[in-house]
Amino acid sequence: MRRMLEILFVQEGLEVQTAESAEVAIEALNARPFDLVVSDIRMPGLSGIDLLRRLKADDSPSEVVLMTAYASTESAIEAIKLGAFDYVTKPFQVDELVNIVRHALEKKALKEENVLLKVELSQQEKFGEIVGKNPKMRQIYALIERIASATSSVLIQGESGTGKELVARAIHARSPRAGRPFVAINCGGLPETLLESELFGHAKGAFTGAVATKKGLFDSASGGTLFLDEIGETSPSMQVKLLRALQEKTIRPVGANEEHSVDARVLAATNQDLQQMIHEKRFREDLYYRVNVISIQMPPLRERREDIPLLVRYFVEKYARIWARPAPLVTQEALRALERYTWPGNVRELENVVERAMALARGERIESQDLPDEVRGFHVLRGESSVEIPDTGFALDEVMESLRAAYVQRAMEMEGGVMVRAARRLGISFRSMRYFVKKYGLGAGER
Ligand SMILES: Nc1ncnc2c1ncn2[C@@H]1O[C@H](COP(=O)(O)OP(=O)(O)O)[C@@H](O)[C@H]1O
Ligand SMILES: [Mg+2]
Repeated sequence: MRRMLEILFVQEGLEVQTAESAEVAIEALNARPFDLVVSDIRMPGLSGIDLLRRLKADDSPSEVVLMTAYASTESAIEAIKLGAFDYVTKPFQVDELVNIVRHALEKKALKEENVLLKVELSQQEKFGEIVGKNPKMRQIYALIERIASATSSVLIQGESGTGKELVARAIHARSPRAGRPFVAINCGGLPETLLESELFGHAKGAFTGAVATKKGLFDSASGGTLFLDEIGETSPSMQVKLLRALQEKTIRPVGANEEHSVDARVLAATNQDLQQMIHEKRFREDLYYRVNVISIQMPPLRERREDIPLLVRYFVEKYARIWARPAPLVTQEALRALERYTWPGNVRELENVVERAMALARGERIESQDLPDEVRGFHVLRGESSVEIPDTGFALDEVMESLRAAYVQRAMEMEGGVMVRAARRLGISFRSMRYFVKKYGLGAGER
């Protein structure tokens, strides 16, 4: 039986080591980690149940599948209770055991992946609410620490969804002004007259509807921080007024006769290229130098892909908490798709995709089918990537075939020739993997 199973599992592309007793197995398990232990229950010496108990007591990472000779459901139930993955009753169909083994290995792989992600997040791969371990992000964290206590203005630049507001809040939270208000306003969202009265306030009777004197946000943020989001969207006349407020530290509410002084630290953000706008005379150079005393450039998500798994983990846990449900596992295939995608909407888009996937996920895991089409890569050839077709003739099938061979070979190399894992890496079935390995002559011994 042991020899038969060895042949069977090796044919399945697994790496197998056999042991003639639980005692020998324990020795092997002490020497190196195994993904899975398949053991008989009734053996001379220690029983399969004893072995299972030992493994669980040692907190072993191995999954355990047991085989029982009789339909002695008692020991089978005990095995499950003790933490065995599953059991088969002898005599069994080979397919049945192979299926169980495959599921056990899959579960193991998922567990490892999630353990990995968790470990990474807890190793302080974030700065307050800001998640990321990319070197550029770390430089930004260091910069925030350094400039937080200053009073100078800061200009935060970067594409939409890269975390500009998050950075502004982090600066405020670490500044001596932390106990005072943080006030944010989107300068692009309001018509000019409204923006002016929002920012500077207005006197009673300043315009129709101004039935009472109203305090502006510069005043509300007094002693604290005022965050001017999308400052590139302001009109030329508004830019003059902002410049005055920043330079003189005084404002005049709409319709008021008197100016008064304000004390708000101003942080500004934009997703536009202000230099270019200055060039085109759409943004005042003097205002630019006034807000850009310190400058922070947020990298787009596609330039810090190593942070994607961390962010996925972070958002999965965030929504699990909000919806009071257990955090789902993320399959390797889904994670790969998330890592490959270009993220034009940056972290905001990633957060939306995770939230949506969690709403869609039927089971306890997020699979690639829970992701939007564009993330799954169905539109990879759109947009920035392009392909060349030589005039000298072309054979698409051959090109695809050699591309596939290259990927299959690479996956096999990365997984040390273990076909199940290589198949997972490529997001294809084990069956297809076995077929291609044979076709391209990549299997062990065939190289
Ligand atoms: N590094 C990050 N870690 C965690 N969440 C982030 C990160 N960057 C952005 N987010 C989240 O993404 C969303 C968009 O961030 P935001 O700061 O509003 O971006 P921006 O102002 O650049 O458009 C917010 O929900 C924010 O919490
Ligand atoms: Mg924003």
